[in-house]
Amino acid sequence: MTRQESVPMNDLKRLYQRYHVEIEREVVNTLRSGWWLNGAVGKRFAANFSGFIGVSECVLVANGTDALELALAAVTKRYGGREVIVAANAGGYASCACWQNDLVPHYVDIEPASQLIALQSVLKAASADTAAIVATHLYGGVVDVRAIRDGLEQAGLSHIPIVEDCAQAHGARIGSAVAGSLGDISTFSFYPTKNLGAMGDGGAVLTSDTAIAGHVRQLQQYGWSSKYHVGVPNGRNSRMDEVQAAILDVLLGDVDRRNQQRRGILDQYKSVAGRRSQFLEGGDGAVAHLAVSLCDDRDAFRAFMKERGIDTDIHYPVLDCDQVGWADLPMMGSENLAVSRASVSRLCSVPCYPDMREDEVEQVCLALRDWEAM
Ligand SMILES: Cc1ncc(COP(=O)(O)O)c(C=O)c1O
Repeated sequence: MTRQESVPMNDLKRLYQRYHVEIEREVVNTLRSGWWLNGAVGKRFAANFSGFIGVSECVLVANGTDALELALAAVTKRYGGREVIVAANAGGYASCACWQNDLVPHYVDIEPASQLIALQSVLKAASADTAAIVATHLYGGVVDVRAIRDGLEQAGLSHIPIVEDCAQAHGARIGSAVAGSLGDISTFSFYPTKNLGAMGDGGAVLTSDTAIAGHVRQLQQYGWSSKYHVGVPNGRNSRMDEVQAAILDVLLGDVDRRNQQRRGILDQYKSVAGRRSQFLEGGDGAVAHLAVSLCDDRDAFRAFMKERGIDTDIHYPVLDCDQVGWADLPMMGSENLAVSRASVSRLCSVPCYPDMREDEVEQVCLALRDWEAM
């Protein structure tokens, strides 16, 4: 490959090429079975995935945003309160889920080196009005959920439910615990580029609380307690189809190995990058969903990388509290986001996915080294 050939942010054709034999076999079997929703394949994947995360219950849903909405609906009814503590830098998904549930996002600040929600900011914002906390394991880094839980206990607020948004952290760990098993409930997206991705949309809600799981199961299917009998209000249809479950079950077996490959790529970037493009630190058990750096001169960095044939992206360009379309919606805390605000114009992602070729990784490393030397 010449240096002029471009390095894309992702190339899902390569994923398909790698797994196509198993995927085609499982998809064809599923189609031939004539059972395409709510069947044995989804049950099998749900059991395997909950085993992988280390919780007892897994409800498959249509996407990760629905998962957040349904999880919040299920955990915020018990104790009242209308505020949900969230980071403002996590792409807006949790904010959407709040407003859909008539809850108010209460934005808190983040740690500079990881860009993950900051413990002290969470504890400062938590009160009797808090309905839930969403801990987003952003970019594959892992929030120390247990430290949040301990802090809440000390403040006499141990009832506040913690929702882990694991859409970017399938298989991430903190110590020996897996992200998604640390809070009261966790949510996943299986959007195609995720660490575990479907070939279409998909999501899941996980918990070890059978009552909460039962509530989510009702909400995701019209509020039914049994067929055509509505047991709870505010239900809807949010299902994952059997074909997506079949594909995810094939890919689940390789998640840890592919996470290791992602980590290896990010480690190479870190070993050559310097002060001018500092990569974030998501913790020892992080899974490098994205390789995100903080740059002093982002436009120049992006132009430089483009010239070297390397695609870049920004995750995410606008804080939730600053989105034009949400300006009139209820929210709190947007005046206390010094780190989030200082970071948002500096974030830049470079390609990092398991099917990257070695020469492409080298091409990125060379560019990072040259950028530093400029
Ligand atoms: C952190 C985070 N939460 C939630 C979502 C929503 O997932 P989906 O796109 O499947 O609705 C995404 C991804 O897109 C995400 O990155």
